[in-house]
Amino acid sequence: MKPIDLPRDYPQSTRIMTEHNARSKSFIFTGPLRGDVRMPGDKSISHRAIMFSALAIGKSNIAGLLEGEDVLSTAAAMRAMGANIERGSDGVWTVHGVGVGGLMQPETALDMGNSGTSTRLLMGLVASHAIQATFIGDDSLSKRPMGRVSDPLSQIGAEFISSPGGTLPLTVRGICPAVPIRYRLPVASAQVKSAVLLAGLNTPGITEVIEPVPTRDHSERMLRGFGADLAVEVGAGGVRTIRLMGEAELRPQNIDVPGDPSSAAFPVVAALITPGSEITVRNVGMNPTRTGIYKMLEAMGADLIYTNQREVGGEPVADITARHSALTGIEVPADVAPSMIDEFPVFFVAASMASGRTVTSGLDELRVKESDRLALMAAGLTAIGANVEEREDGLVIDGSGGEPLDGGATITSALDHRIAMSFAIAAQNCRAAVMVDDVSPIATSFPTFEAMLAGFSAVGERL
Ligand code: S3P
Repeated sequence: MKPIDLPRDYPQSTRIMTEHNARSKSFIFTGPLRGDVRMPGDKSISHRAIMFSALAIGKSNIAGLLEGEDVLSTAAAMRAMGANIERGSDGVWTVHGVGVGGLMQPETALDMGNSGTSTRLLMGLVASHAIQATFIGDDSLSKRPMGRVSDPLSQIGAEFISSPGGTLPLTVRGICPAVPIRYRLPVASAQVKSAVLLAGLNTPGITEVIEPVPTRDHSERMLRGFGADLAVEVGAGGVRTIRLMGEAELRPQNIDVPGDPSSAAFPVVAALITPGSEITVRNVGMNPTRTGIYKMLEAMGADLIYTNQREVGGEPVADITARHSALTGIEVPADVAPSMIDEFPVFFVAASMASGRTVTSGLDELRVKESDRLALMAAGLTAIGANVEEREDGLVIDGSGGEPLDGGATITSALDHRIAMSFAIAAQNCRAAVMVDDVSPIATSFPTFEAMLAGFSAVGERL
């Protein structure tokens, strides 16, 4: 492996080289990653913890809540609809819920910031209440399709006025009582599934969602935990049918939010690609609907050890020790995609440094995330010297065989936290610094990301 030259006056203790302006930053390799880090709360579970607590009657306590901007958007919206939500000095959040059916009409538009999960799930909640709400968001969110949610919610009787293309700003006029529906998901989406189920909470009768390809099941697990009458039947070929009895009464809970496996993928990949590294990432949610990334990295030869396996808040959790590994390219089966849907950007980074070819397909959904992640990852990886072919529904990547990539490019993060973090990680195995034009979106899901990266001890030379 070729040594790399670090600037002589470069401080060896940080991997974040320069702050160019308030938003852009350069990231650089400063040595193997060593250390131990605890993951912040799971974003998906944090959204649901706030929403369901706000719909219970009485006081819920939430420990380990992710205090990222997306979750704070959810909390602000639930406050605007009547819930009382506060953060205690011990970091535990308390929520006094209004009860299913008790949401109040918000006085102003609900600002969802960058958060698709907040928007889509709350559209479901509003749809079966006799209230009207307008949703607005940032430039990224305002481009994302909402028709996938307003289509089924129109069937329950709610009305929608959206911007051209079915995007935000969008107004939902809810209906009460709504009509229960049986809905087969046309796209594998936990957000659409959850939106229909949340609408079903305040709808008389049984709401049924048929899910041909399983997606994250946090809504189902947590709704049951709150006392909802919800059953899941798994049929031929793994097709899941979820039945929820409406007019539910949710009971307040004490919730412990497990750490986010999507966030954990960043330090894990950093250790795998950076020679000499060994890190332990603690408190990682291991729900099987979320762990596709770890299975695929292991299939590539990743040295991952799972310890301290336990349950937190009704979800399996483990600590993961990751060591630098010689990775080999693989073909990712398309049916694994939903269980690693948010991890493809950082997975592509790992693939670009593996030996041989990695082929991914069936990833059309990546084009409608916070950014078009296939286009931006292909462009960014190519700019730092990787060998990438962009196809309509996936990337084909010929890896460097473990060799560092060139780096030395500026990456456009386009209001997408996972693009920004992926290139900060890629920089750990590049010859020159990688600049990210705007790191501010990282705060939506992983506010401690830069502190974590700077904290992995560095020795300043490649082993
Ligand atoms: C999420 C579901 C996924 C995921 C998103 C969070 C959720 O979106 O990409 O980050 O919390 O339900 P889709 O349901 O659109 O795939």
